[in-house]
Amino acid sequence: MHHLTSEEIHQYCETYSSAEPELLYQLNRQTHLRTNLPVMLSGHLQGRLLSMISKILQPSIILEIGTFTGYSALCLAEGLKPDGKLITIELDEEQAAIAAEYIRASPYAAQIDLIVGKAAETIPHLLYDFDLVFIDADKVNYSLYFDAVIDKLKPGGFILADNVLYHGDVLDTASAGKNALAMHAYNEKISRDTRLENVLLPVRDGIMISRKK
Ligand SMILES: C[S@@+](CC[C@H](N)C(=O)[O-])C[C@H]1O[C@@H](n2cnc3c(N)ncnc32)[C@H](O)[C@@H]1O
Repeated sequence: MHHLTSEEIHQYCETYSSAEPELLYQLNRQTHLRTNLPVMLSGHLQGRLLSMISKILQPSIILEIGTFTGYSALCLAEGLKPDGKLITIELDEEQAAIAAEYIRASPYAAQIDLIVGKAAETIPHLLYDFDLVFIDADKVNYSLYFDAVIDKLKPGGFILADNVLYHGDVLDTASAGKNALAMHAYNEKISRDTRLENVLLPVRDGIMISRKK
């Protein structure tokens, strides 16, 4: 991953953040060995941030859109209420199989529902009010996912969206590719929405945190 901060600063931040739990360390390694795009995994620093946000919020219901190999799902699950639940959606069966393996090996197996399917088709069938939503699937559909979840988000609930700076490409919309343009469109849309308070963190590839008033 090309970091927006220097590699040295990133390393320093990881050194002085809590260590990756052992199971997540193994999952990180296995994702590098067994998948073509390990760069998609949240990783140590962002994983600890997701865990910390979840522990602050202590959510009852979390929705994750884009499981990949389950790394971020397991980080977010760390903050769930004891009877809380995390629903995570993944399109790719092979990636979902790795996620299922590690979810089973974790202390959160009974609390995580992994759904294999297209997010846009799955979300309308989810009959929950969410406390926290993590959007991390195909970039061109972020705005669509936002529209699909906003009415199911509790007042005071949060939406986290990953990769919203897209390696910094959002700064140059004239030469940006479709994913960076989609991220810029998402940031514009979110910043105009009067139902939300927002803060965009330049962590890893950019995380937009939105709170529903
Ligand atoms: C960036 S990765 C997710 C990384 C993961 N959240 C983490 O932090 O470790 C994006 C994932 O979204 C999945 N995806 C792409 N389009 C999707 C769709 N329409 N519905 C569900 N999942 C999708 C991809 O297969 C990929 O595994």
